[in-house]
Amino acid sequence: MKVLVTGGCGFIGSHLTDKLIDMGNSVCVVDNLSTGDIKNLNSKANFYNMDIRDEKIKDVFEKEHPEIVFHLAAQINVRKSEEDPFFDIDVNIKGSVNVIKAFLDVKNHKKFIFASTGGVMYGDTDIFPTPESLEPFPLCPYGISKLTVEKYMVYFSAFYNLQFVSLRYGNVYGPRQNAHSEAGVIAIFSTNILEGKTPIVFGDGQQTRDFVYIDDIIRANIIMMESPVTGIFNVGTGKETSVNQIFEYLKSASGRDIKKIHTDPKKGEIKRSCLSPEKIFRMTGWKAEVDIKEGIRKTFNWFKENISV
Ligand SMILES: NC(=O)c1ccc[n+]([C@@H]2O[C@H](COP(=O)([O-])OP(=O)(O)OC[C@H]3O[C@@H](n4cnc5c(N)ncnc54)[C@H](O)[C@@H]3O)[C@@H](O)[C@H]2O)c1
Repeated sequence: MKVLVTGGCGFIGSHLTDKLIDMGNSVCVVDNLSTGDIKNLNSKANFYNMDIRDEKIKDVFEKEHPEIVFHLAAQINVRKSEEDPFFDIDVNIKGSVNVIKAFLDVKNHKKFIFASTGGVMYGDTDIFPTPESLEPFPLCPYGISKLTVEKYMVYFSAFYNLQFVSLRYGNVYGPRQNAHSEAGVIAIFSTNILEGKTPIVFGDGQQTRDFVYIDDIIRANIIMMESPVTGIFNVGTGKETSVNQIFEYLKSASGRDIKKIHTDPKKGEIKRSCLSPEKIFRMTGWKAEVDIKEGIRKTFNWFKENISV
C-alpha cells in the first residue's frame, strides 16, 4: 500500500510509521517538526518537512498518490488552544481540511484515518464508560477543533465519497512521548523521577483517565487500514486509572522511594474520563491488550534507557 502519515515524527505517528514500514508498505511522512523530532523518523520513509496548512501539500499528494492517509499532525496542547484558539483553528481545522482536500484529488484514494480525541470529546459527562452515541460536548478549543474535523469528514464523505475513520483515543502513553508538553503524565512523571525531581499532582490526584498503551493504539490504526469499516470509534480500555494510581505504579516500576507534591487543581480540568470500547470491539475485534502496570513498566524502562540525566 502507498501510505501518507502526517505527524510521522511525533510520538504516535512515528510508531505508526515504523509499523507500516515493517509490514512492507511504502510510507511518506509530512511533518513540520514543531513538536516532533527528526530522530523519530524512520529512515525508510520519504520525508517532507512541510506544514499541513501549506498549499503545496497538494504537490506532495500528486507525487506520492497515497491510497491511505493517517492524519495525526496537530496542535495537541489543550492549554495552548485556550490561550490562542485562532492558532488551534488554523492548524487543527484549516490544516486538516487542506489535507483532506489534497487527498480527495488523488485518483485512487481509499481511506482517511484521523487521530481524534476521546479524552475531551464528551466534556464533563457522568456516563462511564462513555459510548460514541453520547452527544459530544468538548469544553476546550482543541476538542471543538477535533469535533469540527469529524463533521468535515462526514460532509466530504456525503458529497465527495471520502471513506473515513475517526479514532477517538483515550490518553495514549508509551516510549517517545514528549515529556515536555502539558499532557502525558506518565512521560512527565517518569522523567521527573529519573531527573530526581518531585512529581507534581494537580489537585487531589483522584482525577481519572483512560490510559491506552501505544502498541494498542497502533494495532487499532492498522486494523482500520485493513478492514472495510468506516465511522467514528472510541479507542480506549474502558477502565479508569487515577493520577495517584499512576504515581504508585511508577514508584513501583522505578523501585525508588519517591514522594509527590499536590498543588491547586488545573482550572477546567475534567474529573473523570473513560471510553467504552464496545463499538470498536463489536465491529473489528479490537480490544486493548496491554495492562496499565505492564505498559508503565515498559515506558519507564524506555525513558531510563533514553534520557540522559
Ligand atoms: N497523545 C495522546 O494522548 C493523544 C490523545 C488523543 C489524540 N491524540 C492525537 O494524536 C495525534 C498525535 O499526537 P502525539 O501525541 O503523537 O503528538 P506529537 O506532538 O508527538 O505529534 C504531532 C506531530 O505533528 C507535527 N505537527 C504539528 N503541527 C504541524 C503542522 N502544522 N504541520 C505539520 N506537522 C505538524 C509535530 O511536529 C509532531 O511531529 C494528534 O492529532 C493528537 O491530537 C493524541
